[in-house]
Amino acid sequence: MLTVEKASLHYGAAQALRGISLSAEMGKITCVLGRNGVGKSSLLRAVTGQHPLSSGTVSFNGVALNGMAPYGRAKQGIGYVPQGREIFPLLTVKENLESGYAPLKRAERFIPDDIFSLFPVLQSMLSRRGGDLSGGQQQQLAIGRALVTRPKILVLDEPTEGIQPSIIKDIGRAIKYLRDSTGMAILLVEQYLDFCRELADQVYIMDRGEIVHEGPAETLDTPEARRHLTV
Ligand SMILES: Nc1ncnc2c1ncn2[C@@H]1O[C@H](COP(=O)(O)OP(=O)(O)OP(=O)(O)O)[C@@H](O)[C@H]1O
Ligand SMILES: [Mg+2]
Repeated sequence: MLTVEKASLHYGAAQALRGISLSAEMGKITCVLGRNGVGKSSLLRAVTGQHPLSSGTVSFNGVALNGMAPYGRAKQGIGYVPQGREIFPLLTVKENLESGYAPLKRAERFIPDDIFSLFPVLQSMLSRRGGDLSGGQQQQLAIGRALVTRPKILVLDEPTEGIQPSIIKDIGRAIKYLRDSTGMAILLVEQYLDFCRELADQVYIMDRGEIVHEGPAETLDTPEARRHLTV
């Protein structure tokens, strides 16, 4: 289980997280919702080690992650699908997937078959350049690349952003499959409410660097939760 306790994060003098606490359990989809600029990506940067906390702690299955580099966290089993996908545009699809080998032991350096079962398009495009793929295909590639690292928790930052509906469905199916068949923990940041409602077990809503609502997915439709999400 991933546990974040009283996490604060600053960019210079600007505070983006204000004492956030949350947890993401194995075999569950935990969804973090919130409007633009409330600190969702900052939270994930703190979890994956892209940006240090100014105070508070992050731990995964009892291992303290504070101060550990992103590479070390990948080795601990944290897989990251960043906002905007961050595909290597000049590398092929195969090479993008192989970039996920970095934290793996030599014997584990292969692409698991279920990545191609989840996203068959990747197999048919292995030798194409990442930059030549559509946005939706790049998103599938970014998820595939994270899965190559054999994560125990998959952390996704707005995977539906700018993606066509048919591929959003595929991504939703893949996330459910990962939860149900592998017992992986999923930490999903989204602005797309319907996608979260369909997938989430547990939800958190953020506003201005704080958690303002938490509960089971059903609580998303309460007036109190709605108030935090409408502009
Ligand atoms: N590198 C940075 N330097 C300074 N301020 C930043 C930086 N990154 C983010 N911020 C600020 O921190 C706050 C939170 O940003 P963050 O990217 O975490 O929000 P978000 O909820 O992910 O937004 P979005 O929904 O648009 O992706 C915003 O006010 C943003 O302007
Ligand atoms: Mg963001």
